[in-house]
Amino acid sequence: MLDLEGKTAVISGGAGGIGFNLGMTLGKAGMNIVLADIEEPQLASAESALRDAGIEVLAVAMDVALREDWARTAEVAVQRFGSVHMLVNNAGVGGGIGALETLDEPGWRWAIDVNLMGVVYGANTFIPLLKEHGESAWLINVASMAGMAGAPLGGAYTATKAAVVALSESWHDELKNTPVQVSVLAPAFVKTRIHLSHRNRQARYAPVSAPTPDVLHIAKVTAKAVENGIDVEVVGARVLEALEQGELYIFTHPNYSVVPQQRSAAIAAAFERAAQSPILEGISDQEVTRFDR
Ligand SMILES: NC(=O)c1ccc[n+]([C@@H]2O[C@H](COP(=O)([O-])OP(=O)(O)OC[C@H]3O[C@@H](n4cnc5c(N)ncnc54)[C@H](O)[C@@H]3O)[C@@H](O)[C@H]2O)c1
Repeated sequence: MLDLEGKTAVISGGAGGIGFNLGMTLGKAGMNIVLADIEEPQLASAESALRDAGIEVLAVAMDVALREDWARTAEVAVQRFGSVHMLVNNAGVGGGIGALETLDEPGWRWAIDVNLMGVVYGANTFIPLLKEHGESAWLINVASMAGMAGAPLGGAYTATKAAVVALSESWHDELKNTPVQVSVLAPAFVKTRIHLSHRNRQARYAPVSAPTPDVLHIAKVTAKAVENGIDVEVVGARVLEALEQGELYIFTHPNYSVVPQQRSAAIAAAFERAAQSPILEGISDQEVTRFDR
């Protein structure tokens, strides 16, 4: 039985969308909630909404791409609530999409700094705090179905989300003898404002290059899919259920199982061809080096 009562969760990107709903869901399950977000007016209304629901909440304006903002977030979270039991690395932006010939370098940097380094800085800052009290603790990284297989024109978004899946797998094994349970949430489309991520593109990632027809096309398809996506409430409830079950991979869209299955099948078939190759004869019998702890 998952006992979250009186424990504290820090949620990046908690002002809106999936992060906000997780704050509401975990808060209603008895947790103290720290909402950490770059979008200040939205953050203030998210804080009020949680407070009105009777949840102990602290809002911190911060940018996940800045390590010093994470240090400050940890400091104020500990000051207010004493200890931290859960980090949800949720903040993310739909940046850096487009064809490989049309590199929007600031867009790539933006996606990498927020979607990948934001997760690394968050974990690096909070893992010592999650470990130090010896009670149950959780690290939840929000990746995407886009991290389970490449997609044409997916660009930096798919690259960062695939990295978050891989990091979560690494950290899951790295932390397996500690009280910290690592999970990675990989939703397909959810009804949020992710398709409007440019609202939070920091000035340092200017200039924004004029969108090519490819980018415009993918932006339109994405916006429609997001608008028709599942409700955030479903994601929050599913995360709670999956935490109870101690799941590493948290999926919200069973209809998308075809995505990782196709990838696994293609990889398995490629291994089979390698196993049949006369060039590689004898290698199949050699010992496999694994980095288990
Ligand atoms: N909505 C979807 O269809 C979908 C699908 C798969 C994965 N995801 C992932 O879910 C996560 C949450 O996104 P969402 O769909 O709720 O979108 P959203 O845009 O509604 O919410 C994202 C939140 O992150 C915040 N944020 C953005 N940049 C930030 C920064 N530099 N520092 C701090 N906060 C920042 C935003 O202000 C916002 O509150 C993201 O990681 C996203 O990639 C979303």
